[in-house]
Amino acid sequence: MPNKKMIVLAVVGQKGGAGKSTICRAIAAAALTEGRRVHMIDADPQAGLKDWYNRIMVGGGGPLPDDRLTLEWLPQLDDIRGSIDQHYQAGETDLVLIDSKGELSESSAYVMMEADALILPVMATSSDITAQAKTIRFYEALREQAEDDFPPLAAVISRFPAKPSKVQVACKEEIEDTFPVIRRVVMDRAAYISMDEEGFLHTLLRKRREAEDPIMRLQARNFEEALSDAADVFNQVSELADEA
Ligand SMILES: Nc1ncnc2c1ncn2[C@@H]1O[C@H](COP(=O)(O)OP(=O)(O)O)[C@@H](O)[C@H]1O
Ligand SMILES: [Mg+2]
Repeated sequence: MPNKKMIVLAVVGQKGGAGKSTICRAIAAAALTEGRRVHMIDADPQAGLKDWYNRIMVGGGGPLPDDRLTLEWLPQLDDIRGSIDQHYQAGETDLVLIDSKGELSESSAYVMMEADALILPVMATSSDITAQAKTIRFYEALREQAEDDFPPLAAVISRFPAKPSKVQVACKEEIEDTFPVIRRVVMDRAAYISMDEEGFLHTLLRKRREAEDPIMRLQARNFEEALSDAADVFNQVSELADEA
């Protein structure tokens, strides 16, 4: 039976290094923590997400952190719609998460059209604001041309430091004034970088909580906070997708 509640979220934006793949992995962890069944699609021909997954989950020899997670590398755009349909029809997936390539092209337009909502990470720097403003103009032009409903886009302030400079605070305000931004900010956190070496946030949190070493147990708090950023972003964007 199809899962009529399945949602498709895509992380987009032309700026490389803005935190697309990181937010994608963090949202997957948050959704898995909430008991959702997640299918990740790496739409980037560079296969960063797929390589990471193979390195951490498969090559690492460890058990998969979660049997409710699958990942597919689909550099051929035509395969993405097929995969979404298949997951919808099979009814065993709650969330499809697409990590896209950092450019404005036919391929990013295609990914945008397939999703129920879009997430645009923006760092609080002038060059990110300029680059991601182009992404928004690209999105708006597509939306104007679209005959059907077009997915809503949520900008998310990404990698914001705990001790921002004046310039970073001013950039954050500019993003809040000029982008369709959600309230929750994804902070700059070492816990997100740990994902690259060690796996998903929720698995890392479990490891910290269960550790013998008290220092490891102290670190659990950092992972809780990182997961909480991601859970909030996930919930706010899911609400947008539901409203659309
Ligand atoms: N919130 C964050 N806190 C700390 N480091 C981050 C955060 N987001 C991204 N990074 C780091 O920045 C780099 C680029 O992030 P990535 O997610 O790969 O960007 P993109 O996919 O947009 O190119 C990576 O090394 C990643 O670990
Ligand atoms: Mg990436």
